[in-house]
Amino acid sequence: MHYSDYLHLDKILGAQFLESEKRNSPAHDEMLFIIIHQTYELWFKQLLFEISSVNQIMQQSSLNDNSPELQTVVHRLSRSGTILKLLVHQIDVMETMTPMDFLDFRDILRPASGFQSWQFKELEATLGLKYAQRYGQEYYISKLRPGEIEKIKKAETEQSLLQLVNSWLERMPFFNEAGSWKNFESNAKAEEPVIGVHTFWKEYRHRYQNSLAPEEQSNAALFDFVFFGVRENDKEMESSRSVSPAACRSALFIMLYRGYPMLQLPFQLLNQLLEIDEQLSTWRYRHMNMVHRTIGTRIGTGGSSGREYLKNALDKHYIFKEIAQLNSFLIERKKLPKLSSEMEQRVGFLT
Ligand code: HEM
Repeated sequence: MHYSDYLHLDKILGAQFLESEKRNSPAHDEMLFIIIHQTYELWFKQLLFEISSVNQIMQQSSLNDNSPELQTVVHRLSRSGTILKLLVHQIDVMETMTPMDFLDFRDILRPASGFQSWQFKELEATLGLKYAQRYGQEYYISKLRPGEIEKIKKAETEQSLLQLVNSWLERMPFFNEAGSWKNFESNAKAEEPVIGVHTFWKEYRHRYQNSLAPEEQSNAALFDFVFFGVRENDKEMESSRSVSPAACRSALFIMLYRGYPMLQLPFQLLNQLLEIDEQLSTWRYRHMNMVHRTIGTRIGTGGSSGREYLKNALDKHYIFKEIAQLNSFLIERKKLPKLSSEMEQRVGFLT
């Protein structure tokens, strides 16, 4: 085995063809432009590889939270977050190209654009961005080739990471185990939204409501909507939800009691999803500002409104926003309901 053969360097290093040179007006910065895009695409490939493997593990009908598999999931998600951080920093290198340097070859590129990165769109779909949530639905695949569209559509029909996390949370066993809650005490009133739901939630709802400042009282209704599906005449809001009330209850429980050993890995999993969303949106933000700085408010080579399109995509394309929202429903540690001793044993690996 030889280094060059193993890495197929002949193909990779022989894949930079400067259009400006072909047209006899060489533009120095085109080499940087090509290499940066190529490295991005290689990292997108790695990200897809990692997230697809995570989805494959999460697809199993039962995943032992105390097994190496959950470790693997958390590890690969964490690696994906680190790769995304690198992708954010790569923008620094891109920004060493000045607007005038870009103008030297920009017009040759039309109508090519990063907008045609099918891997980027496939990655968004694999993570959980639904077609219905996309900004610019009418043209998001309009500039792609049929084979590329097929890959994105396939990813949209398969179970996304967000959907798989939702099912995993819904399967969380603790609230179905009567034995684990024998000594749990609650004096809270059993009001409408919490009837039929585990007593823990009756107690937690009561404590959460009491923790709200007068100007935050509207959060109480949001709480009932998120955790018990109680609607506030807002059908649109409900239909746009990807994480069910039962899954939200499990996720909040994990966040609240993450200090117990059994909940640590599940907490890290949720935290990595937020890290991925934060890094991805930081990339979108940096890319949008770079575009503004480089082409002002001109339309993109891909034909979109340029910065305006990117700003709307930034606002709309958060994937794990429902998980991030759960942080609005935390209460102080010292005010948390005390778990029953059986439950403490259950999540504490004690015998
Ligand atoms: C000076 C450098 C760059 C400029 C001026 C630029 C400009 C733009 C513009 C204007 C758009 C909106 C679509 C359009 O109408 O073309 C866009 C989209 C996009 N660009 Fe760039 N870009 C640059 C560098 C990059 C780099 C290095 C990447 C890395 C792969 C990239 C990836 C993307 C992606 C993935 C989209 C689609 C984003 C979405 O749909 O949310 N761009 N770019």
